[in-house]
Amino acid sequence: MLICHTIKEIKSFTRQAASQGKTIGFIPTMGYFHAGHLSLMSEAKKICNVVVSSIFVNPIQFGPQEDFTCYPRDIERDKRLAEEVGVDAIFIPSAEEMYPPRFSTFVETKKITDCLCGKSRPGHFQGVTTVVTKLFNIIQPDMAFFGQKDFQQAAIIRRMVEDLNLEVKIILVPTVRDKDGLALSSRNVYLTPTQRQAALSIPKSLALAAQIVENGERDPAKVKMAVSGVLAAEPLVEIDYVEIYSLPHLEEISFLQGEVLLAVAAKVGKTRLIDNLVLKIPDNKVNHPK
Ligand code: PAF
Repeated sequence: MLICHTIKEIKSFTRQAASQGKTIGFIPTMGYFHAGHLSLMSEAKKICNVVVSSIFVNPIQFGPQEDFTCYPRDIERDKRLAEEVGVDAIFIPSAEEMYPPRFSTFVETKKITDCLCGKSRPGHFQGVTTVVTKLFNIIQPDMAFFGQKDFQQAAIIRRMVEDLNLEVKIILVPTVRDKDGLALSSRNVYLTPTQRQAALSIPKSLALAAQIVENGERDPAKVKMAVSGVLAAEPLVEIDYVEIYSLPHLEEISFLQGEVLLAVAAKVGKTRLIDNLVLKIPDNKVNHPK
């Protein structure tokens, strides 16, 4: 597996692969790999000739009070894991390589960034879209793989790719969960055993929502209330948001129909966790019996 620290090195690798007619799959990451990252890489492996990942804890997507400095890092372990899955090259740039002293250009997607994490973390998505645009320009992948756990991030990147006519297909890969249901996240490492137990109320609340909808509830306010109830019953959990939006554009709705996103963000201790569920609402047969 090739390790590149400079833009020049990784460009020369990906340009050569492209000139040989190979398709390039790309997985941008901030490292500290878990099975979620590895599943993105495995998906890429299945459908692309060459798989490239990047590890870069992107300073401009963290707010001043957020966990940039203590974000977990273990590059040597990441390299081993990526190699085991068959990644062909990893790009591990320094902050100076990505943001040289005179750097002053940012990419911003509007509207779809106004809700959910965009509302709670001002500036976060501008940092994400800026670094992802740079990475896409550097790597020039045919396909890029993102996890469903960060659903809004993937939706924003899809919007950006369409708006800026970028030549990359965005592939969404299902969230990977631990056996107990907690969505895998590099930040789970911050949780104490007690906090981790409390955090399980997040997947439990989503499962309850799925059940309620399955039973015929079509009022988003009632579903949100049920989810909030489960989370609020856990004293260690501080709700940031519980929201339901229509897909694919993340618009507000007053009635559940078609495909909708139920998204949750909560703090457990100092750790901010997110999770979501895509609900496919069947035709309204339960509410309108024949
Ligand atoms: O999801 C992440 O790990 C990051 O937001 C990303 C896409 C690598 C950009 O820094």
